[in-house]
Amino acid sequence: MGRNLMGRNWMRVMFPPLASFLAFAAAGCGHAPGYPGPAPIPPGQVVDFNTLYSHNCSACHGVNGQNGPAVDLGNPEYQALVDDTTLRKWISNGFPDTEMPAFAQSAGGMLTDAQIGAIVTGMRQHWGAQNAFEGATPPPYAADKSGDPHDGAQLYKSRCAICHSSSSGEITSASYLALVSDQSLRTMIVAGRPDTGQPDWRHDSPGGKLTTPLSSSDVDDIVAYLATLRNPGAGPSSPASTSTASPGRAASSPASAQPAASAHTGGNQK
Ligand code: HEC
Ligand code: HEC
Repeated sequence: MGRNLMGRNWMRVMFPPLASFLAFAAAGCGHAPGYPGPAPIPPGQVVDFNTLYSHNCSACHGVNGQNGPAVDLGNPEYQALVDDTTLRKWISNGFPDTEMPAFAQSAGGMLTDAQIGAIVTGMRQHWGAQNAFEGATPPPYAADKSGDPHDGAQLYKSRCAICHSSSSGEITSASYLALVSDQSLRTMIVAGRPDTGQPDWRHDSPGGKLTTPLSSSDVDDIVAYLATLRNPGAGPSSPASTSTASPGRAASSPASAQPAASAHTGGNQK
């Protein structure tokens, strides 16, 4: 009993300062501790973009949306390609079978709708750019159809392998592809990754020299090809959620985007 009480007291002494430190940190460090300042903002009410982004996103998407392990959100071409509804959907619900977590409270995350709105608006303000495509029209964000993996294999040879040689061809490895959705592949092929040197759909050659831009259906085909490499030995023994050989994990392709070539064994209708 005495011990318990002491335990409680210890918690009472330790936790309020910890809680206010966290709230202080979440409020963006406007004032040093001990100095007079506005009352700490409860974490659920923080709507400052920089605070929200650095606490929740930068570990994976990089400081300023660059040089992280996951898609560079700071790429102006990405911001121009994707609409608000899609951004909200991704951030709220995450993406199954990838590292992208769900952030909406309604999906078990920690952020309110207002906070997710603040992140979307903040990304536009910080990273959007007028005329990001310099007048060109990129293939749309979402796949229009399921691609043809055979055409995709040819395109991969002529358009991608020049940089992604088999020795450094980790993007064709099943272990890389297992972690990345079809949509994410499409995003990176269309918008590029200026932070790592992956060209966008137009500058598809070493040195960024202009070649024939990839069409939307070229991108569909290349993604379909990569998807066939994701799970090459797929069979009844694979885990249920990814148990089919069909490359049907695209984030926002219509449900009808079932590749006609693969057996319809179900289990991938997301
Ligand atoms: C001009 C050279 C070049 C060409 C052509 C090229 N890439 Fe890349 N790609 C890169 C570089 C550089 C990286 C970054 C390498 C790294 O992250 O280690 C990269 C990275 C990637 C990534 C990983 C992105 C990530 O961050 O996870 C994918 C996927 C990719 N490329 C797909 C393709 C596809 C598909 C094509 C053909 C349509 C293609 N690339 C053509 C240079 C190129
Ligand atoms: C634990 C790592 C991780 C964290 C934290 C994380 N993400 Fe992601 N995010 C990813 C990965 C990995 C992907 C690609 C998923 C895929 O392959 O579909 C992704 C994808 C996305 C996409 C979709 C990209 C596209 O192709 O259109 C958006 C938007 C995004 N994240 C925003 C955010 C925001 C905003 C935050 C913070 C609130 C965040 N992410 C936090 C790992 C993370």
